[in-house]
Amino acid sequence: MALVPAGVETLVQHGFDVVVEPGAGLDAGIVDGSYREAGASVAQSSEVGAADLLVSVRDLPEGEPGRGQSGSAPAAFIGVFDPLWMPQRAQRHADSGTTAFSLDLVPRITRAQSMDVLSSMGTIAGYESVLVAASRLPQMFPLMMTAAGTLAPARVLVLGAGVAGLQAIATARRLGAVVEGYDVRPAAVEQIRSMGARAVELDLSAAGADMASAEDAGGYARAQSDNVADRQQELLAPYVAASDVVITTAAIPGRASPLLLTAAMVDAMAPGSVVIDLASERGGNCAVSQSDVEVDRSGVTVLAPTDLVSRCARHASQMFSRNLVAVLRHLAPDGEMDLRTDDEILAAMLVSLDGEVVNPEVAAALGGSATPDEAGAEG
Ligand code: NAI
Repeated sequence: MALVPAGVETLVQHGFDVVVEPGAGLDAGIVDGSYREAGASVAQSSEVGAADLLVSVRDLPEGEPGRGQSGSAPAAFIGVFDPLWMPQRAQRHADSGTTAFSLDLVPRITRAQSMDVLSSMGTIAGYESVLVAASRLPQMFPLMMTAAGTLAPARVLVLGAGVAGLQAIATARRLGAVVEGYDVRPAAVEQIRSMGARAVELDLSAAGADMASAEDAGGYARAQSDNVADRQQELLAPYVAASDVVITTAAIPGRASPLLLTAAMVDAMAPGSVVIDLASERGGNCAVSQSDVEVDRSGVTVLAPTDLVSRCARHASQMFSRNLVAVLRHLAPDGEMDLRTDDEILAAMLVSLDGEVVNPEVAAALGGSATPDEAGAEG
């Protein structure tokens, strides 16, 4: 749920009128009465669609994205719709005349930390991925010395140590596993170690990798050449084969996720092992994973759940709401929208304005880069 009652209360105090769809918070354990007590009115979706500004966790409803449920497009919309990967969504908002903002484009700068939904949702996805792996692995995570013998701890390998990966490492450590982490960004080595895991370091220089440029100015990883990717798989193979659990979280903004685990690498794992691929929405890090399908590959359970954040709906909503309220207070300090297009944060997250896609990177993606046909990717 995009807003929890505490968020509504803050907004109402700052001059907003808030309308919530009936039952919208139920999956997060929030009843309509709590929204009313916080100062919101609860009204049917036609009225919600007539709002000046519509907020939502993802994009507007499937089937007719870019349009309010009343049939008319909202004047302004804030959600998370990954326009770099799905630029057609941005185009639909522009075509409807909606001023649309995507929260995944908030810059990763100190001033915008309170608005960073990617970090909030990554934290939850990383945590939940370990719980799923632990519940599916046919052994416990910690070392156990019992009267029935000594039980070895689970070996967990986390590939991609951004927000989700670091949280997966921390969670697996708390459960007592022996954990290794790997990331292509050199800066991640210290972060992996600080979580109590061993950092896997691969020498990719022979394949032509320049580690100094593995990270872009925004702190994100850059895509790698085919040579480097092949060498990376080759060098990772023995670490994967020795692991009971592999959790992959590697991503590049607006690009297909890098392939880190080939089918042969999964085949080399012991039967009963578990792979969790968190990157399946952009193609996945594992060649055999399929979104929300349980795959059994040579006895290895390969999962790619896309609903991990929703499984933790109470905390996910609480964090999302805090981030969203920070964005709304920034966008509309006195309850009236004040769109400063020269503001670094607002300019970065603004996708469409006055019928045009105005974000230069999204516009470039629309111009025919390697993004997928949306129907195929969503279908
Ligand atoms: P992400 O979701 O875009 O990617 C996840 C991880 O995959 C990244 O650490 C990336 O380096 C890694 N990766 C990409 N290709 C890889 C490959 N071929 N092999 C191995 N790993 C690969 O990243 P996320 O979690 O959104 O974080 C992006 C960056 O932003 C990080 O540097 C993070 O520390 C930084 N950050 C900064 C914040 C701030 O200053 N306010 C807040 C949150 C994150």
